[in-house]
Amino acid sequence: METTRERHILAFSGGSGSGYALRLLEHASLMPHDFHLVFSDNFFRVLEKEFKLPADFDQSASITVSKVHSLLNFLFGSKDRENNFKILPFRDIGSEAASGSASYKSMAIVPCSMKTLASISAGITTNLIERAADVSLKERRTLILVPRETPYSLIQIRNMETLTLAGATIMPASPGFYHKPESFNDLYDFIVDRILQHMKLPYRKITPWQG
Ligand SMILES: Cc1cc2nc3c(=O)[nH]c(=O)nc-3n(C[C@H](O)[C@H](O)[C@H](O)COP(=O)(O)O)c2cc1C
Repeated sequence: METTRERHILAFSGGSGSGYALRLLEHASLMPHDFHLVFSDNFFRVLEKEFKLPADFDQSASITVSKVHSLLNFLFGSKDRENNFKILPFRDIGSEAASGSASYKSMAIVPCSMKTLASISAGITTNLIERAADVSLKERRTLILVPRETPYSLIQIRNMETLTLAGATIMPASPGFYHKPESFNDLYDFIVDRILQHMKLPYRKITPWQG
């Protein structure tokens, strides 16, 4: 009998904090689950501003799993990564993640720009990230949005309220400091841990608070 592994959607939009996305990908690439990845164009626009990328990383060409792996190897060192990523095209609103009949356990958008958050809150689905999030809500699946903005406008707060009432989890990229971070990765991992915890994926890097 064919064994099917748990599938999750990881989506990446153009908010600042692309390091959270990269650390999430780094951990996910080592897990025994399947991850369908969707990258917005603006994710790469921000990524190139925030990270020194490999010289041969051509963001104008379409992203592939091997490019994701080489980026992770470049930033975090070579690992024995799972063959567990599949990239879904951002503009293909006919992709499998666009339908409620496809089975996914959860979805996280990291970072989630205020624009993507607003679209989802208004039920507007012009790309695969927005459509897959809309489907997650209607199918009552776990949906985690990780916004990075400060301060918030009333409109943004109201959008977050609407999404919370609709069942999404708003998880701002606001790391704690009680684990005594010594690096950016320690800060990113604080948020990545909370995302994975809410996705019911028990792969924690940071020791939980013990009082
Ligand atoms: C360098 C840079 C940093 C940005 N930082 C943020 C941010 O922190 N939060 C945010 O909501 N939008 C931010 N934006 C704006 C979004 O990228 C913009 O709203 C875009 O339309 C989002 O598109 P997407 O959600 O389809 O990726 C930033 C843009 C740039 C170029």
